[in-house]
Amino acid sequence: MSGLIIAIDGPAAAGKGTLARRLAKHFNLPYLDTGLLYRATGRRVLDHGGDPRDVATAEHAARTLLPVDLERGDLRGPEADKAASAVASIPGVRAALLEFQRDFGAKNGAVLDGRDIGTQVFPNARVKLFVTASAEARGKRRYAELLARGIAADLAEVTDEIIARDEADRNRSAAPLVPAADAITLDTTALDADAAFMTALKMVEHTLS
Ligand code: DC
Repeated sequence: MSGLIIAIDGPAAAGKGTLARRLAKHFNLPYLDTGLLYRATGRRVLDHGGDPRDVATAEHAARTLLPVDLERGDLRGPEADKAASAVASIPGVRAALLEFQRDFGAKNGAVLDGRDIGTQVFPNARVKLFVTASAEARGKRRYAELLARGIAADLAEVTDEIIARDEADRNRSAAPLVPAADAITLDTTALDADAAFMTALKMVEHTLS
């Protein structure tokens, strides 16, 4: 469905990425995980020994980001999570990354997942989903992901980090994590990936009908 924008927002580890990828495949649309832009920006700051909270350094890293930076192998894990959350609270970083996101969807449409896709990046998106789940369920999922990638982790610590990051994403003044007024909420606490996809697909088809 060329030209269609599906915006998927929500807190960390709610199942946005898996769902977005499947919807993109179903509708034959390109997919962009916009968290990678913030992760790669944070990593670029860390590469040079910088502090991701430093405005000038983070803005420079965002402005000079290259598509190849999104393919780095070190964009996941606690250090990258924290750096991404820090740079994401800086308005100049968000402004620098906005154009990339809009260009990505402008030509053929896209499925994008993030925190502000339906509110800031594509406020006119035809379909907006806000995907959420309890902090406990999200902690368990992130913990399982880390173990599967061979990264040692502690469930309580992972859950606490997710809660802290949500707080930071919700309370920042620049494009805070908030559902768009016209977003449909999908709670995936009790749903596996297949059930989440089937439920989301019905929501999307209903919106498009
Ligand atoms: O979705 P994620 O966990 O990969 O996101 C990493 C960080 O980037 C997270 O703290 C929130 C931030 N982010 C954002 O502010 N806006 C987006 N569109 C995507 C991610």
